[in-house]
Amino acid sequence: MTRANPNNPLDVLILAAGLGTRMKSRRAKVLHELGGRPLIAHVSRTAAGLEPRKIHIVIGYQADKVRRAVEEELGTATAAFVLQPEQRGTGDAVIAARTGLESNQSTVLILSGDVPLIKLETLRGLNDKHRHQNAACTILTVRLENPTGYGRIVRDENGNFLKIVEQKDATEEQRSIREINAGIYCFETSALFSALEEVKPANKQGEYYLTDVPAILLQRGQKIVTYEHRDAREVSGINTRAELAEFENLLRRSTIRRLMLEGGVTFIDPSHTYVSDEARIGPDCVIHPDVQIEGKSVIGEACEIYHGARITNSLLGNRVVIKDHCVIIDSSIADDCAVGPFAHLRMNAQMEERSVVGNFVEVKKSRIGRGTKSMHLTYLGDATIGEETNIGAGTVTCNYDGKHKHPTVIEDHVRIGSDTMLVAPVRVGSGAVTGAGSVVTEDVPPNTLVAGVPAKVKKKLDENS
Ligand code: UD1
Ligand code: CA
Repeated sequence: MTRANPNNPLDVLILAAGLGTRMKSRRAKVLHELGGRPLIAHVSRTAAGLEPRKIHIVIGYQADKVRRAVEEELGTATAAFVLQPEQRGTGDAVIAARTGLESNQSTVLILSGDVPLIKLETLRGLNDKHRHQNAACTILTVRLENPTGYGRIVRDENGNFLKIVEQKDATEEQRSIREINAGIYCFETSALFSALEEVKPANKQGEYYLTDVPAILLQRGQKIVTYEHRDAREVSGINTRAELAEFENLLRRSTIRRLMLEGGVTFIDPSHTYVSDEARIGPDCVIHPDVQIEGKSVIGEACEIYHGARITNSLLGNRVVIKDHCVIIDSSIADDCAVGPFAHLRMNAQMEERSVVGNFVEVKKSRIGRGTKSMHLTYLGDATIGEETNIGAGTVTCNYDGKHKHPTVIEDHVRIGSDTMLVAPVRVGSGAVTGAGSVVTEDVPPNTLVAGVPAKVKKKLDENS
């Protein structure tokens, strides 16, 4: 008889080869996003928390994309991928992973890629019970008000487990059973694969059901255990876009609630604010309606973020003010800066302390020095700008010659006049001034006034002017 040995190594197997027909999508179900991350990323991350020997993932439909989604989440070392060329059922999916799993005495925890809310402690509880009970198979079950669609747990008159019956194959009487198979199990690997050899696609769907395995093991005199879980939502899979939206709402509400209660963050209207569960927001921040804070953004203390801003994978220091309708992506903003309204920062834009980027200013891959201001209607791309400099309205770094991008350097205490075109590569020395409407095609020496088209040196400036 196969028994769970408490010291057996643990492997995880995630089934993620299916299309997910009910999503009505060309995209594989496990690639649909919840909280800005694919479903499969949520499940893989939680599974990794068990610290298994290996995470095996069965892929098929859009295999490459699913693989990339997992690798983006876990790196390339933790997961092993197996291809199931044709989706012939969950039993067939497990067989596809046989070579990677079977060799040793081990326990395998199986789950699906579409249960994103499953908690680490639940998986631990299942695994612990499986080992303590020396079971060959332990099934996570849950009672549902409406069990339609799920496999039912059929028991004898004494309440002992008999078998799992799929919705489509169930009798009227079996369909009234409310205890369902959550699709999450622990198996002793050797028992699992030996029983899978007996599984036949003799059912309504013509599929190889993993859910036939427990009854086969039982007939062989093996021990089957069930582990009933209370939280139905946590273990239920996502099958439709309606369910996905419901989960999104749930996740969002719990993230914002946590930030309010534990994090000391004010949300003017929590039901119209969107914060990724991976983002961090410091105490005494005030977040106005329709703000989206995405990805791994980190926001310091006492920042104020106004209506309609989107902040993605960016870093904000303390006391930063983001005015209405700004887009800030992959960028960093130091303490006491102000941005917007209607500003766009992207591709590692960096603002140092007390700098200001104002109305309709775009900053791409540029660094703006301490106390420097660019208040209106400006494009700063591939630029490095020093301290306490003023960039006049309508300034453009002409960084692209049609083939290549070129850098602009503006040093400290510079005054760039309104509507200056800086034709890169170009350097404006510290203390220099450009006249309004200048087209700067050559480097400007320090402490010099240039003006005209193209700009010519007009005079040498007194350093204190
Ligand atoms: C399955 C269970 C059902 C359980 C439910 C819980 C079976 C036969 N039924 O049904 O008892 O109540 O989960 O959510 O197992 N997959 C593959 N290859 C395949 C088929 C499926 O990798 O050939 C993957 C899918 O991508 C999915 C998972 O296995 O992630 C489950 O498959 P799905 O078709 O969703 O099974 P359910 O009908 O939900
Ligand atoms: Ca499912």
